[in-house]
Amino acid sequence: MCVSVPPCRRQREGCRAGGGGGMECSWKTVLLLVCASLGVQYTAIRTLRDSLSGPCQGTYRCRTRHHRDSRWRALCDDSWMPGDSPRRHILLFATTRSGSSFTGQLLNQHPGIFYVFEPLYHVQQAFTNSSSRLRRTLDRRALLGAYRDLLLNLYTCDLHFMENYIRPEPQDHVTNSFFRRSSSRALCSPPVCLSGGGDAAGSATPDETWCPKKCGALNLSLASVSCLSREHVAIKTVRVPEVGDLRTLTEDPRLDLRIVHLVRDPRAVLASRMMAFSDQFRAWKVWNATGRQPRYVDLTQITSTCKDMAASAETGLQRPAWLRGRYLLVRYEDLAFNPKDKAGEIYKFVGLRMEDRVRTWIAHNTRSNASSPSEWNYRYSTARDSRATAESWRLRLGFDIVRTVQNLCNGTLALLGYKQVHSAAELRNLTHSLVEPRTFQPTR
Ligand SMILES: *[C@@H]1O[C@H](CO)[C@@H](O)[C@H](O)[C@H]1NC(C)=O
Ligand SMILES: *[C@@H]1O[C@H](CO)[C@@H](O)[C@H](O)[C@H]1NC(C)=O
Ligand SMILES: *[C@@H]1O[C@H](CO)[C@@H](O)[C@H](O)[C@H]1NC(C)=O
Ligand SMILES: *[C@@H]1O[C@H](CO)[C@@H](O)[C@H](O)[C@H]1NC(C)=O
Ligand SMILES: *[C@@H]1O[C@H](CO)[C@@H](O)[C@H](O)[C@H]1NC(C)=O
Ligand SMILES: *[C@@H]1O[C@H](CO)[C@@H](O)[C@H](O)[C@H]1NC(C)=O
Repeated sequence: MCVSVPPCRRQREGCRAGGGGGMECSWKTVLLLVCASLGVQYTAIRTLRDSLSGPCQGTYRCRTRHHRDSRWRALCDDSWMPGDSPRRHILLFATTRSGSSFTGQLLNQHPGIFYVFEPLYHVQQAFTNSSSRLRRTLDRRALLGAYRDLLLNLYTCDLHFMENYIRPEPQDHVTNSFFRRSSSRALCSPPVCLSGGGDAAGSATPDETWCPKKCGALNLSLASVSCLSREHVAIKTVRVPEVGDLRTLTEDPRLDLRIVHLVRDPRAVLASRMMAFSDQFRAWKVWNATGRQPRYVDLTQITSTCKDMAASAETGLQRPAWLRGRYLLVRYEDLAFNPKDKAGEIYKFVGLRMEDRVRTWIAHNTRSNASSPSEWNYRYSTARDSRATAESWRLRLGFDIVRTVQNLCNGTLALLGYKQVHSAAELRNLTHSLVEPRTFQPTR
């Protein structure tokens, strides 16, 4: 909820006196300097405060860590206690086809979490569809800025902010075009959808048409209400390249951001992308089928996936001050092989209790004896047999392709503990694990 917090009265008055005095005492050079510097400070603090007044004005609280940070200390009156609000802002930070739908469900099932599946899709679409002249002036920084802007607004439960990007434009705050709405329980249950919410935790993830059919168009005002009524917000995205691009959000005093960085063996990522986006990967499929690399195959996408994955992991594991305690590296394979324990680690990291509903969902969706892994039947479905699905790439990818990816991504594989294979036999031998046991300590 937007809780009004008294402004930093003492500090502001102090500053105001300094700023006003600047005129009167200008006859003395020394005093002038002192006053000028106070004035600058005042302006800086004002700017800072103004920049902090977001859509949910007044949610800003001074938390312990900001008392230590001199930039924020000036804003904090001593009467402000460290935020007792336990509200968490969770970011599932991943790459396409790295198991993020499955992992996102672990958060989505928690009754206190408002979960949104890839809201940045709309930003990217809006930018991609803008006129070519505009597109040329929109550099990477602008796009990332828009991404962060939207994330911040969603974390503060202003879902109307999405209207800037959803096409066609919502009418009266109502839209039929919210990307993957069915992936969010909150957007398909009361108060957003009065006929929803009856599904059991164990039921399979509903298909894309289920929720809109049952619930009608999405009222973004009601979505904001639903968001405010839940204690926490979790967002999954695959569109932010590097964890460093999120720095202004980890430093934002309005948020208590926890980043769960989900990685997966790049060879598996590639195999999964080939299955899910076969049009885009036609050249790769020719390569896989013939064993000969077509000249026109595009190696840049998987190369940059590896580069970004490694860069983020390196940053996170170095524990810079701006990320300390806010970053957890999770390998999808560990989660798939041992869902209950790994999910427990994720919940421990974000500081929430793993509710029974989450346990039930895991029990129903990770059976190793399920009749058929469903990942390949439905593009975005979560896998029932998580272990088999995590490994199936080893039977689906030609050795020649595997060797090429290993060369392109060798540093990433080594960093994340994925073993290289040196023969097709080694690749297909599933008793030979390619995942080295590793512990990536939560940065606490
Ligand atoms: C992009 O523009 C095309 C053509 O105007 C339109 O068909 C398509 O729906 C637009 N996509 C989005 C996401 O706005
Ligand atoms: C959307 O929900 C709000 C809040 O309940 C309500 O006031 C508004 O009438 C709804 N809009 C539509 C088009 O139903
Ligand atoms: C999987 O095994 C459990 C017991 O281990 C059993 O209760 C369940 O029915 C089995 N599911 C399938 C799909 O065979
Ligand atoms: C690669 O080819 C094999 C057989 O040649 C096939 O079974 C597999 O599905 C293909 N993999 C992909 C990702 O298309
Ligand atoms: C990856 O391969 C390059 C070029 O073959 C080599 O220089 C580099 O040391 C390798 N890195 C690792 C981590 O194996
Ligand atoms: C498969 O790998 C296991 C474990 O590394 C090894 O013991 C076994 O000999 C391998 N099987 C074949 C057929 O290579």
